Amino acid sequence: MSTVFNFTFVPWFRSVAPYIHMHRGKTFVVGLTGEAIAAGKLQNIAQDLALIQSMGVKVVLVHGFRPQVNEQLRAKGHEARYSHGLRITDEVALDSAQEAAGQLRYEIEAAFSQGLPNTPMAGSTVRMISGNFITARPVGVIDGVDFKHSGLVRKVDSAGILHTLDFGAMVLMSPFGFSPTGEAFNLTMEEVATSVAISIQADKLIFLTEVPGIRVDSELPESEDNPIDTELPLDAARKLLTTLPPAQRPTDTAFYLQHCVKACEAGVERSHILPFSVDGSLLLEVYVHDGIGTMVVDEKLESLREATADDIGGILQLIEPFERDGTLVKRSRTEIERDISQYSVIEHDGVIFGCAALYPYPESRTAEMAALTVSPHSQSQGDGERILKRVEQRAKALGLDSIFVLTTRTMHWFIKRGFVPVDPDWLPEARKRKYNWDRKSQVLVKKLK
Ligand SMILES: CC(C)(COP(=O)(O)OP(=O)(O)OC[C@H]1O[C@@H](n2cnc3c(N)ncnc32)[C@H](O)[C@@H]1OP(=O)(O)O)[C@@H](O)C(=O)NCCC(=O)NCCS
Repeated sequence: MSTVFNFTFVPWFRSVAPYIHMHRGKTFVVGLTGEAIAAGKLQNIAQDLALIQSMGVKVVLVHGFRPQVNEQLRAKGHEARYSHGLRITDEVALDSAQEAAGQLRYEIEAAFSQGLPNTPMAGSTVRMISGNFITARPVGVIDGVDFKHSGLVRKVDSAGILHTLDFGAMVLMSPFGFSPTGEAFNLTMEEVATSVAISIQADKLIFLTEVPGIRVDSELPESEDNPIDTELPLDAARKLLTTLPPAQRPTDTAFYLQHCVKACEAGVERSHILPFSVDGSLLLEVYVHDGIGTMVVDEKLESLREATADDIGGILQLIEPFERDGTLVKRSRTEIERDISQYSVIEHDGVIFGCAALYPYPESRTAEMAALTVSPHSQSQGDGERILKRVEQRAKALGLDSIFVLTTRTMHWFIKRGFVPVDPDWLPEARKRKYNWDRKSQVLVKKLK
């Protein structure tokens, strides 16, 4: 029994280690929708966030309260009123919002204070600190509609938030802000979370929402052929926003996406849209290679792009030492010139320090990823993985079901990233004819759907 346990637990725990190291000391802003709390997910989310914090991540938690405010309004015999996708906050709605926020804060603080033995919270001590970190201004009157006490973020006290995080506390924020005259304004959780992430230049902005993420084809319903797009480059996210109808409700695809794009454009490298309906979605997104929701990522920072003819010299220089020691199969300059459009590269200050090529076999709905290389000076910083993800995206865009690699020395790197070994007979016919049986390369396949 214990041997089986060692076999499964130890390799599994070690496989998470790179992600624990990677996120230690980083700052995440988490936007938790009121819907998630209404759906009874608070306890589990609090457990996951406490665990994430204990692994060295600094956390700002911003809660929403849409359904709770509506409930308070209903109890007072009033209906929620919206215009332009925003709540119209009259006196009754402001009262309801204040009551809902008070109640929710109490519930959240209670959830983070648990420590019962034999639960994931045993031994955890999460200190939560809230405060008047947001200065707000009124939305005002738009197209003749007076939004009254609905506000927008005017300023974030980033120094105050950072100081609190450095103190080891989790910052808890409600969607409220105050004007310099002391007037309270009802804000949206999404705007508060985005503004805070930008102002403290957080490493991640994460929305825990009722949407599962952005589907590969946002027009069609989710299906096996239309899965969640786990990584959306900023450019593609921007393009998608221009084709979508303007967001009116949180369940509209554009709703969270526009905030993710805004954060990314303002220097927050990664923004995530995750479903709260999946238990542990935060852990799955942050500590597992493929994640579960959609991550909008600004690749500009890493200069990951498709190759052009100008990159041929750089690619040759990069792969040549690995060809010499037999890690990679030799490729001639003519071959690389011919195939240059199949390559993706990472470039920094004009130097190519990573590359991979994708050779599709459309008749078999698969493609080979070849010549994956990262310069020895830049290895172990996640660039290999970033190139792999890019190549996966290119293959998905071609409508392929899988990618495969042939390797003699890098098997474990691929297995850790979701590839499985198969017999060389699996290869598409055209590729099998070129397979070098003497080299005895291992064939590994990764499913994309
Ligand atoms: C494989 C390669 C592309 C990975 O690039 P990278 O940028 O270092 O990758 P990442 O940063 O995403 O991952 C690094 C991790 O992979 C591990 N790794 C590197 N090479 C490995 C190998 N051959 N087998 C198993 N793990 C390996 C590193 O030890 C590191 O682990 P750590 O974070 O626990 O230290 C790079 O090592 C390389 O260029 N190797 C030579 C060429 C090659 O073998 N290409 C594959 C051809 S099929």
